[in-house]
Amino acid sequence: MAGRLADRAPAGSAKLGSAAGTTLSRRKILSGAAVMAVSGWAGRAVAQQGGGRTRVVFLSRSSNTRMLAGQLARSFGADLHEIRPRDPWPEDYEEMVDWASRWRQSDSLLPLESRPDPTGAELVFVGFPIWGAALPAPMRSFLANTDLSGKTLVPFVTHGGFGLGNALDELRGLAPAAEVIQPFVLRCDQERDNLNALTAWLRETPAVVPQ
Ligand SMILES: Cc1cc2nc3c(=O)[nH]c(=O)nc-3n(C[C@H](O)[C@H](O)[C@H](O)COP(=O)(O)O)c2cc1C
Repeated sequence: MAGRLADRAPAGSAKLGSAAGTTLSRRKILSGAAVMAVSGWAGRAVAQQGGGRTRVVFLSRSSNTRMLAGQLARSFGADLHEIRPRDPWPEDYEEMVDWASRWRQSDSLLPLESRPDPTGAELVFVGFPIWGAALPAPMRSFLANTDLSGKTLVPFVTHGGFGLGNALDELRGLAPAAEVIQPFVLRCDQERDNLNALTAWLRETPAVVPQ
């Protein structure tokens, strides 16, 4: 069934809201009142040097991650870059899950509409949702085709309740010469939950369903 990937609880899932990244010296953790409001991060403000050296790169389908990306960009005066596939993904949720699954299993990299260029950035916030307990294919394409060596990457990740899966390991593998610091992780609404709620309501409300 098409929806099963999004429903699967992957082995090694991080606890909700947990920090599941590499060990991090507190000096490298970011601060700033607005960022702390969304994340609880604490420490010295690495990003206070301004927008030019800080970028926010994100992928989002249903806007959970987009909301966080906007907040980070505002907080740091950073440029905001959205990653989009060259060919749009399906609107329908079940078709989307199949699409994501096919690309996850593919040896090819998904073509992107445009690729954010982080040249000159020292600190890059990298935001994405979890798809099928993994890094989404468009984010994989971005990381595989972008030289992030020497940069500090701050992942911010949303998921529907099953944790990070192997996404951070994938990210580190695709950006081996970058320093990947402790991520911000947030459980967010999942489209599947909304669809299930609607289906349950329809079952319990025969008056609206033709008999
Ligand atoms: C194709 C697809 C696969 C998903 N797979 C998972 C998953 O394996 N585990 C999980 O916890 N959530 C999964 N989700 C839910 C999303 O990670 C979650 O809703 C996320 O916050 C969506 O972010 P966005 O609104 O920025 O797109 C999946 C969602 C989609 C569309």
